[in-house]
Amino acid sequence: MEGLLREYQQRIETVLDHWLQPPTTHPASLHQAMRYSAMDGGKRIRPILVYATAKALGVPLSCVDGPACAVELIHVYSLIHDDLPAMDNDDLRRGRPTCHKAFDEATAILAGDAMQALAFQILVTDPEMTEDPKVRLRMMEILARASGSRGMAGGQAIDLASVGQQIDLVQLEDMHIHKTGALIRASVLLGALSLVEIDEVRLEKLDRYAKCIGLAFQIRDDILDVESDTETLGKPQGSDMAQNKPTYPALIGMEASKQRARELVDDALESISPLGPDADLLRFVARYIVERIH
Ligand code: IPE
Ligand code: IPE
Ligand code: MG
Ligand code: MG
Ligand code: MG
Repeated sequence: MEGLLREYQQRIETVLDHWLQPPTTHPASLHQAMRYSAMDGGKRIRPILVYATAKALGVPLSCVDGPACAVELIHVYSLIHDDLPAMDNDDLRRGRPTCHKAFDEATAILAGDAMQALAFQILVTDPEMTEDPKVRLRMMEILARASGSRGMAGGQAIDLASVGQQIDLVQLEDMHIHKTGALIRASVLLGALSLVEIDEVRLEKLDRYAKCIGLAFQIRDDILDVESDTETLGKPQGSDMAQNKPTYPALIGMEASKQRARELVDDALESISPLGPDADLLRFVARYIVERIH
């Protein structure tokens, strides 16, 4: 399974390289910033989920290169903006200076903006995806909702409004489901919709899987912010505590956080239990999400 993960990581690298403008394209510093943040880094968990879902359903990977790239671009844009001084004000990302440090704040904001636009351009124009316009439109709707004010961007707004506040577990879960869960959920749904004749039953099971691992992913991210170190993470350890961010470990404690993440993964695995061995990579990714060390 690790071999497949590496294969998909390399695959998305090639697809990103194809869609991003060359670094010499005018305006060069903007295109350089986009490549700087999008290429050669990250675990690529969202594209891997798109590919793994397609694999589980027997869809050729070439049909989902576009959706996989689109969701990674939205994710990278969210990271660039998340690190800005107005948000988490972090200097390190994926083991390198953050985009606004390597370039400047205005360029970082624009690189994020342009990546978001490119994501939707890909879903409109990629010739390898299904030609069915209804499916393309549904994919665009899913990605737009997952990115917008009732998805990732909304979750980020809740996150910023929660700094230094006493929030309860329901509010914390709501924040995590939006800021991180929404895009992870969209990744699985985009993979699932690439099977044009997908039935509602399998779609629902995959959606439940995705919701569970999406929340588990952010719980693990909160845990690693406490337990890991800056070098392993490639981003500043202790950033949440330093900024007084509400997190799972802060609210319910470390052991209960780990327990909750494990329960969510069990739920996710249960939900896709009717799927055959082609779904083994989805099972592997679910376990990886709570065991990962960065
Ligand atoms: C970090 O996401 C931000 C969150 C949503 C928790 P990842 O942990 O997937 O970051 P990369 O893409 O691997 O760098
Ligand atoms: C980030 O949450 C969520 C998004 C980028 C949408 P965090 O702020 O916890 O992510 P890291 O820890 O900086 O990667
Ligand atoms: Mg943040
Ligand atoms: Mg952050
Ligand atoms: Mg974090």
